[in-house]
Amino acid sequence: MNTDRLVAWEHARLSARRLAESAHLAALESIVTALRLAPDEAPFWAHFADLMQYFNPNYPADPLLLDLLGRALEHPAVDPGNLVRPITRLALSRPPGELFADPLLLRMLELSVTRDEELERRLADARAEALQQVSGTPALPLRALVAVAHQCFNSEYVFAETAPETEAVEHLRRAIAAAADPCPLGHAVYACYRPLVSLENAQATASKLAATPLATLARRQILEPLEERRLAGAIPVLTPEASGISAKVREQYESNPYPRWIRTQSAFTTGSLAEITRELFPRADLVGVTPGPARILVAGCGTGQNSIATARRFLASRVLAVDLSLASLAYAQRKTLELGINNIDYRQADILGLESLPQRFDFIESSGVLHHLQDPLSGWRVLASLLEPRGLMRIGLYSAMGRRHIAHARERVARGFAADPEGIRACRAAIRARPDDPLLARVARGEDFYSMSGCRDLLFHVQERSFTLPEISAALEQLGLSFLGFEFADGGATASRYRARYPADRALANLENWHQFEQEHPDSFSRMYQFWVRARG
Ligand SMILES: C[S@@+](CC[C@H](N)C(=O)[O-])C[C@H]1O[C@@H](n2cnc3c(N)ncnc32)[C@H](O)[C@@H]1O
Repeated sequence: MNTDRLVAWEHARLSARRLAESAHLAALESIVTALRLAPDEAPFWAHFADLMQYFNPNYPADPLLLDLLGRALEHPAVDPGNLVRPITRLALSRPPGELFADPLLLRMLELSVTRDEELERRLADARAEALQQVSGTPALPLRALVAVAHQCFNSEYVFAETAPETEAVEHLRRAIAAAADPCPLGHAVYACYRPLVSLENAQATASKLAATPLATLARRQILEPLEERRLAGAIPVLTPEASGISAKVREQYESNPYPRWIRTQSAFTTGSLAEITRELFPRADLVGVTPGPARILVAGCGTGQNSIATARRFLASRVLAVDLSLASLAYAQRKTLELGINNIDYRQADILGLESLPQRFDFIESSGVLHHLQDPLSGWRVLASLLEPRGLMRIGLYSAMGRRHIAHARERVARGFAADPEGIRACRAAIRARPDDPLLARVARGEDFYSMSGCRDLLFHVQERSFTLPEISAALEQLGLSFLGFEFADGGATASRYRARYPADRALANLENWHQFEQEHPDSFSRMYQFWVRARG
């Protein structure tokens, strides 16, 4: 390593420490220095994007910041979702009339799902205006309209739609079908309301649009969904057809695969299972954890973000990734092929039917899944039975405390609406109509509120339950598993707070303390409890 690179890494490590202390501005200054010295280090870009979530810059902004945001947005190691907040704030602080002149905003609309009520309103107004002007001269340049169409597709058409709009879209669909050649403007407007794949002769339309500014839109809205349909038919099945609650859960994720993602963070610490666990839990008993390639099961892999991250994180591993939903598996398979990853095998399976699986695994991961089983413990028991002796698990379960606002929204509002697109749109409006209710207002600010499948997962799940830490502790006893520790996605801020509160628990693994800590800091696990356990000898 040359001197610049060594110094750059020093600054990056300093930035990480400052993030753990919640000193965000100092952390940003350090990572910007690191990027200036070694801009080819992918982890620096990922860390910069992580940090930017804590900032709300205003226009006109420092040109250096704008340059870094633009480069981060294009960087393959960065999850564009982490840049949504600062880019939205910048765009909305521009003078009125300049919103769609912001290149960062247009690119962000293409690459992620936005999460801001005002921005959503501006986008919804823009598409409504474009629909009215479809046969005249549009107010919005085609490039901006295409970006809006990308956003409408990314959020799965979750924006409210009026009856006159529905009628005008139907009229537009007929006009498109009757025309001999595609009109890019008409197709872009249509794509703001319905996916282009819903047009007659969608495949031929994609070919015709390939040489127009709508080429990417046609790929995303026609070719990729068609590819997923083809891939779904070729995914091998491991267990008999799901029944009971599993069948209902499957049905939900067949119509609404979740989470839908475009690009995910790819720069994180990689290593063998032994190396990664040693780094995460330096005080745990990890004797015997395989130092070589791990055999891994991802149970409930969803749309592949989870299985792909795991396959990349554990070097030379072989991953079996299963899920109930073929639509989710096909999405995962398409993204896996697109990224050139070749150590994952996708199979359709119900966790409850996996007990006869002959393979055994060094590591099993099941995040955001077991709480959707009728009896989570029985599914967890099946997974535990597939572990090698002293094998490891990483589990993600909902926290009752962390999800109190969601329980409130389900109980008070969502119950009154159908779990279909119209019902979900109406439920969103009803939640937004109650800004006086802080728990509902919090739900309306959450990421999942901004996409159809996110809202369905958040507020309309056919089966879910939440846990407390004493319940998890009792489950571990029953299953013969030992708790190793939590994983957080906040750069170590929660762990630092816990350490300051319980300095004697040096392994950060006392669940009674953590339960107490959660009472004092009720949002510590607002996404989920994510933790590692190990089978006892
Ligand atoms: C919320 S998604 C989480 C996906 C993934 N683990 C992630 O973190 O991105 C839950 C997934 O669990 C799957 N699932 C739920 N119950 C299951 C079961 N009994 N067997 C297999 N998969 C199941 C669903 O089909 C869905 O794709």
